[in-house]
Amino acid sequence: MQNPKHVVITGASSGLGRALARRYAAAGLRMGLIARRAALLQELAAELKVRGADVWTAALDVRDAESMKKRLEEEDARAPIELLIANAGISAGTFGAGESAEQTRMILATNFDGALNAVLPVIPLMTARGRGQIALVSSIAGFRGFPGAPAYCASKAAQRIWGEGLRGELGPKGVEVNVICPGYVDTPMTQGNPFPMPFIMSAGRAAAITEKGLRKNRARIAYPWPMGAAAWLLAALPPAWTDPLLKRAPKKPAMKRA
Ligand SMILES: NC(=O)c1ccc[n+]([C@@H]2O[C@H](COP(=O)([O-])OP(=O)(O)OC[C@H]3O[C@@H](n4cnc5c(N)ncnc54)[C@H](OP(=O)(O)O)[C@@H]3O)[C@@H](O)[C@H]2O)c1
Repeated sequence: MQNPKHVVITGASSGLGRALARRYAAAGLRMGLIARRAALLQELAAELKVRGADVWTAALDVRDAESMKKRLEEEDARAPIELLIANAGISAGTFGAGESAEQTRMILATNFDGALNAVLPVIPLMTARGRGQIALVSSIAGFRGFPGAPAYCASKAAQRIWGEGLRGELGPKGVEVNVICPGYVDTPMTQGNPFPMPFIMSAGRAAAITEKGLRKNRARIAYPWPMGAAAWLLAALPPAWTDPLLKRAPKKPAMKRA
């Protein structure tokens, strides 16, 4: 969408979400920032207000469906939400010890249910107006299950597939849906990784590529392209060929508790 007038971003207190907020902030733009850490949201809001944006913040947990719906509906009544970016997410590391049931559920609840809690309330509002855009921040990890992060990969695959389906369903109703699949981005999520991260890029650069892709209404915004191509190939090849390779891939360090 060109020049959305009210942009809402979940997971705006850090990393890619914060960089996206900085990328979009402009004079006259209304902007909603959602995450749990209120102080970080306030700090960012103050910075964006200096640039002329009209910013609201909500210290919410995306797993709280009722509070998310209530707040999004209230803000939409004040000014129609034109772009919703469902970006909040967590990852866990297992260091080869296996993901606990608790970790698995927390990742899926935050990354997938959290995205549903952000997106579902705005669908009827946007379709009623015949205008809007919904972006789901999936990942290159959503193309193939990796032994170090099965729940994370599953959550990102679910976001990607849901978004691809929604795009076909909502497009004719005037609502654009886009799936964002970043490779490694330099954020707190990756800063503890003790292994080489090929083609890692800054959050600012990732936000710029994302914003351009959304402006052009690209179905899938996957970057950088060599990572996208590698993920596509890994998904396309038979597991019997790729399993031995992935078994040797490095794992994330132990999970940081939210
Ligand atoms: N970094 C990468 O290499 C990479 C690659 C591909 C995809 N991604 C995806 O990009 C998105 C952003 O990640 P990031 O790298 O920017 O990580 P990050 O710096 O850790 O940021 C994660 C954001 O999500 C928010 N969040 C987490 N749990 C939440 C909850 N229950 N309720 C509300 N907000 C919550 C955090 O805010 P609070 O803690 O304040 O709640 C924070 O703002 C994620 O969906 C991630 O999976 C990242």
